[in-house]
Order: sequence, then structure tokens, then C-alpha cells
Amino acid sequence: MEKKFTKLYRIWHWLLAFSVLGLLITVALRKTFLSWRANSEIIQTQLASSGIEVTHEIAKTTAKAIRSGMWEWHYIFGAVLVVAIIIRLYMMLTKQAKLPILVFIQAQTKDKLKYGVYMFLCFFIFAMSISGVILYYHDFLNLTKDSVGWLKDLHEDMMYGVLIFVILHLVGVFKHEITTKEPIVSKMIHGDGD
Ligand code: HEM
Ligand code: HEM
Repeated sequence: MEKKFTKLYRIWHWLLAFSVLGLLITVALRKTFLSWRANSEIIQTQLASSGIEVTHEIAKTTAKAIRSGMWEWHYIFGAVLVVAIIIRLYMMLTKQAKLPILVFIQAQTKDKLKYGVYMFLCFFIFAMSISGVILYYHDFLNLTKDSVGWLKDLHEDMMYGVLIFVILHLVGVFKHEITTKEPIVSKMIHGDGD
């Protein structure tokens, strides 16, 4: 398949990149500055130093309430990611793109590593989206919180797959940029004249 940096391809790529980076940032914030565990302790100790005793339960609920506004962005970026996936499915249906696994199988040996990274990156992002949407709509799907516990664990663990392949992708793009004369980042932004 000849690569063309068409408008639709670039819109798809930047929607995908923007949403995945956004999702990773919301997770990083949830696990650090807005962690309910760390913040509930801060709430308890700070209030205790002013002579106000609150239970662990109240501190936990307050910390989760502080986090919730930020975590809404996980779902907003999640929705943008779903839009990017729909665009990619449309591109595949209209023969403007192929399934990443077919691209990998048909690639020349010298391109296998690059398309292997794309295949795994797309696989993890797709699996995150399916599991994320099921988790988000579990009430609507008549699934109890306990019955989707394993899916939440899987969703959380698969984040490392996304993280690893995003890093490999960025290293690959950077290497291509500094070792060849082809300005691919510029092409991904401005197109290649098609
Ligand atoms: C989380 C962030 C990102 C994700 C998930 C992502 C995902 C992808 C995927 C799946 C492809 C393969 C498209 C295909 O041919 O089917 C791709 C290609 C590409 N990406 Fe990204 N990307 C991200 C961030 C970036 C950033 C920040 C840059 C630029 C600095 C970038 C530059 C490129 C370029 C230049 C290509 C084309 C590479 C080539 O054809 O050899 N990406 N990206
Ligand atoms: C690259 C994509 C994604 C990544 C890396 C990601 C990462 C994560 C992680 C690590 C967690 C667990 C957080 C924790 O408990 O500490 C989580 C939870 C969750 N994610 Fe995602 N996610 C992604 C996409 C999505 C999408 C597309 C949706 C759907 C809108 C979604 C919905 C959810 C839901 C509903 C939870 C459970 C929240 C809770 O129980 O409080 N995620 N995500």
C-alpha cells in the first residue's frame, strides 16, 4: 500500500495521538497528584492539625470528589478516541487503509519492525477502547461492578502495552527524522501534496 498523507489520514492520526496522550495524562494524574489514597491522608492530617477529626471514609469521599472533575476528561478523551477509531474503520471500508495485521504480514522484511509496532499499538488501543466503553456502560449493559472487576484490571494492565508501543513509535519517528532526509513529521502535519 502506498502511503499517502491525505487530509483524512492526518486528521485520524492527530485525533488518535491527542486522545491517547490525553488519556495517559488523566491516568498519570489519577495515580499521582489526584490519587485518593494520598489525598485522603493529606485531608485527614491537615484537618487534624486544625483540631478537626474526620473519618477515613469522609476523607476518602472528599478526595474522590476532588479527583472526579479531572477524571471526567478520561471519558471525554475516550469519546474522541472512539471517533478516531470510527474514522479508521471508514478508511478501511473505503479502501484507504488496511488492517494493521495485513500491513504487517505484507510488509518487506526491512519494514517489519515498524509495522509490528503499529500492529501492537493499534491492537492495544482498540482493546482499551472496547474494554473502556464496556466499563463505562456497565450499568446500561446490566453488568454489576463486581462482574466487570476482571475487565477493569485488564483495562488497567493493558495501559502498559499502550505506553510501551507509544514510546517505541515516538523513538521510531524521531530516529527516522534524524537519520533520513524524509520529513515525515512535517508530512504528517502538512501532508505530502496529495
Ligand atoms: C499517543 C500518541 C500517538 C499515537 C497513538 C500514534 C499512532 C500512530 C499510528 C497507529 C501510526 C501508523 C499509521 C499507519 O500508517 O497506519 C502512526 C504513524 C505516524 N505517526 Fe504517530 N502516533 C502518536 C503520536 C505521534 C507524534 C507525537 C508524532 C510526531 C512527533 C507522530 C508522528 C507520526 C508519523 C510521522 C507517522 C507516519 C510514520 C510512517 O509512515 O512511517 N505520532 N502514528
Ligand atoms: C489508550 C486508551 C486508554 C488508557 C491508557 C486507559 C487507562 C485506564 C486506566 C489505567 C484505568 C484504571 C485507573 C485506576 O483505577 O487507577 C482506567 C479506568 C477506566 N477507563 Fe480507561 N483507558 C483508556 C481508554 C478508555 C476509553 C476509550 C474509555 C471509554 C470511555 C475508558 C473508560 C474507563 C473507565 C470507565 C474506567 C474505570 C474508572 C473507574 O472505575 O473509576 N478508558 N483507564
